[in-house]
Amino acid sequence: MVQITVPASSANLGAGFDALGIALALYNRVWMEEADGTPDNPLCIIESKDSVPIPTDRSNMIYQTARLLYERCGHPFKGLHIIQENNIPMTKGLGSSSACLVAGLLGANTLLGSPMSLADLSDLAAGLEGHPDNTAPALFGGLVTSVMEGGRVHTVSVPVSDRIRFAVFIPDFELKTEVARALLPQKVTREDAVYNLSRAALMTASLFSGSLENLRVAVQDRLHQPYRFPLIPGAEKVFYIAYELGAYAVAISGAGPSILAIVDRDDSEFALKAQRELKQSGLDGWQVQLFCCDPKGACVEFN
Ligand code: HSE
Repeated sequence: MVQITVPASSANLGAGFDALGIALALYNRVWMEEADGTPDNPLCIIESKDSVPIPTDRSNMIYQTARLLYERCGHPFKGLHIIQENNIPMTKGLGSSSACLVAGLLGANTLLGSPMSLADLSDLAAGLEGHPDNTAPALFGGLVTSVMEGGRVHTVSVPVSDRIRFAVFIPDFELKTEVARALLPQKVTREDAVYNLSRAALMTASLFSGSLENLRVAVQDRLHQPYRFPLIPGAEKVFYIAYELGAYAVAISGAGPSILAIVDRDDSEFALKAQRELKQSGLDGWQVQLFCCDPKGACVEFN
């Protein structure tokens, strides 16, 4: 079987809507092998390694994307045996669907002897997701800047300063990305466009160089977060708590509902203190977890 390990990701980083994303050291694992069906009747055998409910029929996203890759490569598809271990919470803004897309594509590509390059897989994954800011970090790791043009993803992954960690505030409710995108305005003013693009550029340069004093300005956004706050009860309080506890920057993670705080590496008590503050504020349904940036992205092993 091939084993595919894919990191979680946090998209946007405030101002970098649909452009920036960071891979987090929280991983889904998938095992995949060809099944013994026929092209007319491919087999679909899907198991879960944990108690997370997943589709075990042909609607399974990993199965579907793997099948798509077989078809794109013109290779007969006889079905798959897939085993999933899901550690990335689903529908929480932490790139779980991108992790499934990347696992399906990378697994199938490996089983076929790697006919496609990583760049091809990145293009395919972003095309399926509709934006590249989770798929590219899941595939390449690190802090990733991406632009989609004409079906291709132009992307650069850089390491982030080792002086920071990422605290993720995860609520007990879900928010579908399509819902959180539907309410965004179709047009923005030039002033707001400049506001965001200057900050997105500042964010990448500052995270890479360790100019942490810039992060609080760099993370501000006018294109999506103001519209999404009403969908995330407690979000403004979470921002307040994170900044009061000394976070460098706070942003909605992807389309939400989780919230990402960039904190100092040496602040080992941050998660504990944040959890206590959340409880005192009546936000009992929120959990705080601390992660490093994943530097490598998805990887494949044979076992
Ligand atoms: N950039 C996307 C959005 C990320 O904010 O809608 C979704 O995970």
